[in-house]
Amino acid sequence: MSENWIILGATSSMARAFARGVSQRGDAVFLAGRDSDDLATTAQDCALRGARLAEALIFDARAPEGFAGLIARLEREEGQINAAVFVGSMPDQSEIDADPSLIQGIVADNFTGPAQFLQMLAPVLEARGGGTIVGVGSVAGDRGRVGNYAYGAAKAGFHTYLSGLRNRLTRSGAHVVTVKPGFVDTAMTWGIEGMFLVAPPEKVSEDILAAVKKRRNVVYTPFFWRYIMLIIRMIPEPIFKKMSI
Ligand SMILES: NC(=O)c1ccc[n+]([C@@H]2O[C@H](COP(=O)([O-])OP(=O)(O)OC[C@H]3O[C@@H](n4cnc5c(N)ncnc54)[C@H](OP(=O)(O)O)[C@@H]3O)[C@@H](O)[C@H]2O)c1
Repeated sequence: MSENWIILGATSSMARAFARGVSQRGDAVFLAGRDSDDLATTAQDCALRGARLAEALIFDARAPEGFAGLIARLEREEGQINAAVFVGSMPDQSEIDADPSLIQGIVADNFTGPAQFLQMLAPVLEARGGGTIVGVGSVAGDRGRVGNYAYGAAKAGFHTYLSGLRNRLTRSGAHVVTVKPGFVDTAMTWGIEGMFLVAPPEKVSEDILAAVKKRRNVVYTPFFWRYIMLIIRMIPEPIFKKMSI
């Protein structure tokens, strides 16, 4: 059966690597985001790598009035409809301390915008009896910490949303993969000090493609972050609240 992927946040280097991967399988890719020039370049690249169809579409997580048009475009394609969400933003916590209203945008980018889009897309997957949704969260959503708890809270909300959506869609044969990357070398983390075990975006993409194939539910990438976060979650709160990790 032919497969179609809408990739939200397709200017992310992780998303670009993922788009290359599904293009090599001959899938159709719809590269969605705010920067049409960048998306058009990626679409050309995907077509050269074997995508059955490669199209750039405008998606802004803070402008939900545009979502219905994207879904209508996808519905014109035959076969399985899949979605991969790479959208996210992470202002420095000190900027949020100075301007608490930034929280609204962080929640819209990392959680409510993508969730509203997926909520509108879910009936399409149900009607077609299958499909895959990939949602990129973050290890930051596993426990709130002093350095980025607003971002972490938005990711935690997205993780919980994806868990419920997986619960719903499994009844119609569709599947939801929750991805929790650790530190990745991308535009988002450029110049941030104190990062360790930083992975290349291609590694994250490889792990996502494998997780989709094996229908994994929740995947940490690289894998060892599962154990790092297990330890971090186990630190008792009286100790954790005094730490700056
Ligand atoms: N890098 C890491 O260490 C790391 C770790 C864990 C999780 N993650 C997550 O991985 C995903 C990809 O991030 P990245 O590291 O590759 O960073 P990135 O290059 O900054 O990618 C973020 C993507 O989100 C898009 N975006 C932001 N706000 C948007 C909005 N309002 N509407 C539409 N698109 C919007 C950006 O588009 P524009 O080009 O238009 O800004 C970009 O495509 C994000 O969800 C991020 O939270 C990253």
